[in-house]
Amino acid sequence: MDIYQNISELRTSVRSWRREGQVIGFVPTMGNLHDGHLSLIRKARERSDRVVASIFVNPLQFGEGEDFDGYPRTESRDQSLLIENGCDALFAPAVTELYPEGGMPVTIVEVPQLSNILCGAHRPGHFRGVATVVAKLFNLVEPDLAVFGEKDYQQLVVIRRMVEDLCFPVEIVPATTGREPDGLAMSSRNQYLTDNERAIAPVLFAELRKAVEALGSGKQTPEELCRAGLAALEEAGFRPDYFEIRRASDLAQVGEDDLRVVIMAAAWLGRARLIDNIQVDLEYTSG
Ligand code: PAJ
Repeated sequence: MDIYQNISELRTSVRSWRREGQVIGFVPTMGNLHDGHLSLIRKARERSDRVVASIFVNPLQFGEGEDFDGYPRTESRDQSLLIENGCDALFAPAVTELYPEGGMPVTIVEVPQLSNILCGAHRPGHFRGVATVVAKLFNLVEPDLAVFGEKDYQQLVVIRRMVEDLCFPVEIVPATTGREPDGLAMSSRNQYLTDNERAIAPVLFAELRKAVEALGSGKQTPEELCRAGLAALEEAGFRPDYFEIRRASDLAQVGEDDLRVVIMAAAWLGRARLIDNIQVDLEYTSG
């Protein structure tokens, strides 16, 4: 696997592959890789001749008081895992390579309607940071396709919208959420949990599944379901940010005709902020 820290070397290499007509698949990450990330690499592998991954802990998407400094960085282990899973090139730039002037870049990319709701309402500026860095990475790698996890559902919707609105010639490929055997969605932030919190953490996914079942049975309104979900999370020891049902395509409030919805929740457990979601096809659950 080739490892690049600077932009010009990465570009030279990827462009030579492109000249040979090879399909380039891209998986952006912040490192500290787990099997959820690696499933994205494998998915890109199936669809591409060359797989490029990036590892960049992007300061722009962390708010004040968030875990930018403490975010786990495990470079050499990540490199071995990428090699084992068939990655051809890793782009791992320093912060100054992507933001030479430091701090806030002058040009930013924002998808306002999708960025200030749900997680965005609790993490101001987060999705602006994500959209800006992903736009930069797309311009550097120029991939044919890029794989994003459904685990970060709002991020996936933001990126799809950005790609559509700014006409990026990149296919966005979603990948299903990788889970621990007890249902907890894999996340680099799970390691912030104490043993006791780790035992409680699967309740988040369990409550989402309960909501899916209840939605199908039609006995409770969506509002009642969400209130029950919030109460159950609090009862278990979480500090929930939200528990909501939204239209899957654009995260709007659900209307009567909407058949594809997503039940999403975010909640703090100790010093970890956990998020998870389940997409639901109402056609198949009702009746
Ligand atoms: P990071 O949290 O490292 O995640 C990188 C990619 O892995 C994202 O597409 C995310 O949705 C996916 N992912 C994380 N956990 C997953 C799981 N359990 N199952 C499946 N996929 C999972 O998301 C980011 O980094 C950043 O915001 C980034 C897009 C790299 C921009 O900085």
